[in-house]
Amino acid sequence: MLRSRMAGIGKYLPEQIVRNQDLLRYMDTSDEWIQERTGIQERRYAHRTAETTTTMGVAAAQIAMDRAGVTAAEIDFIIFATLSPDYYFPGCGVLLQRAMKMKEIGALDVRNQCSGFVYALSIADQYIRTGTYKNILVVGAEKHSFGLDFSTRGRNVSVIFGDGAGAVVIQPARNDQEGILSTHLHSDGESAEILAMYNPGTHANHWKQEEFASFDDAAIGQMFFSHAMIDKGQVYPYMDGPAVFKKAIVKFPEVILEALEKNGLTPADLNLLIPHQANLRIAQFVQQKLGLQDSQVYNNIQYYGNTTAASVPIALCEAWEKGKVKEGDLICLAAFGSGFTWGSVLLKW
Ligand code: UT7
Repeated sequence: MLRSRMAGIGKYLPEQIVRNQDLLRYMDTSDEWIQERTGIQERRYAHRTAETTTTMGVAAAQIAMDRAGVTAAEIDFIIFATLSPDYYFPGCGVLLQRAMKMKEIGALDVRNQCSGFVYALSIADQYIRTGTYKNILVVGAEKHSFGLDFSTRGRNVSVIFGDGAGAVVIQPARNDQEGILSTHLHSDGESAEILAMYNPGTHANHWKQEEFASFDDAAIGQMFFSHAMIDKGQVYPYMDGPAVFKKAIVKFPEVILEALEKNGLTPADLNLLIPHQANLRIAQFVQQKLGLQDSQVYNNIQYYGNTTAASVPIALCEAWEKGKVKEGDLICLAAFGSGFTWGSVLLKW
């Protein structure tokens, strides 16, 4: 069976740099707290109106396609991962298809939050291996800055996230020395609510039964989205940070080792690990646990914050642009996030 390879990679970061210090305007926080707990110094925020998750995805995709030497007409499938889509529906995949004037190809939206890009790559890999498609565009993009609680109430979440996009073109490998060796996906929905954005949604869990009963048909839409939700701050992401942290530091090493063991390799064989940029402390813990040298792990959360589905392709692209990813290198991509979902991709560049 054919392996798949990354034929081109691109990233897009919006111009506006928001330093930790800048956030003090909105909330009670400090540069010291943010750096000490997360490693983040600054992040990028998209232009309020001119940029969307899709437009950033398009910008990254165009670079990836140019580097792969393929035109929009040659792309035969789109996979778009994001948790901050332009619309509740339809997803960003079709918006990118329209913006890039692509043919009437399939466009799949992936909703696996921080693991979205790793999940998307795994799907693309299967389609290439089976010979179904030849040029798959995989995009991870986020515009978090539009949906965060910038009051002190939301500070544990809002200081972390940043905007940006990354993309790759996936093609059949040219020989058996390169390409994706294996992908590994996992989930555990037991703690789905500890890192989540509940509204708008169809769950209605937070409505007490008596409140629920008083709703007539005309008001039922308010259970989906209402002024009360806004007033109570229920329209923003919620995270129990320490609980997520504890699970992440177990699952990251586990899924990286799973990928290495499946291929008869060890951490010492890795040229570069690109962990999802959730928190520098998590990445450092993973590095230590696996006994990796500094040169074997790439981090850039210091400059972009956590860009969820975009973080892995942005980091991989930046590492490649800096010459840290060379032909034949063994690279591991790994992610963990809301769901929980987590996964890894082991590849030869
Ligand atoms: O990418 C998706 C996956 N996400 C993750 O992997 C994130 C995992 N979790 C984390 O990275 C960390 O838990 C956080 C960075 C989110 C939080 O760091 P922490 O060391 O776990 O802090 P904490 O939530 O336990 O909060 C400690 C204190 C609290 O105050 P008290 O109760 O001790 O008085 C918070 O209210 O820090 C306070 N705090 C802040 N203070 C200043 C929370 N956020 C802030 C803030 N600035 N932004």
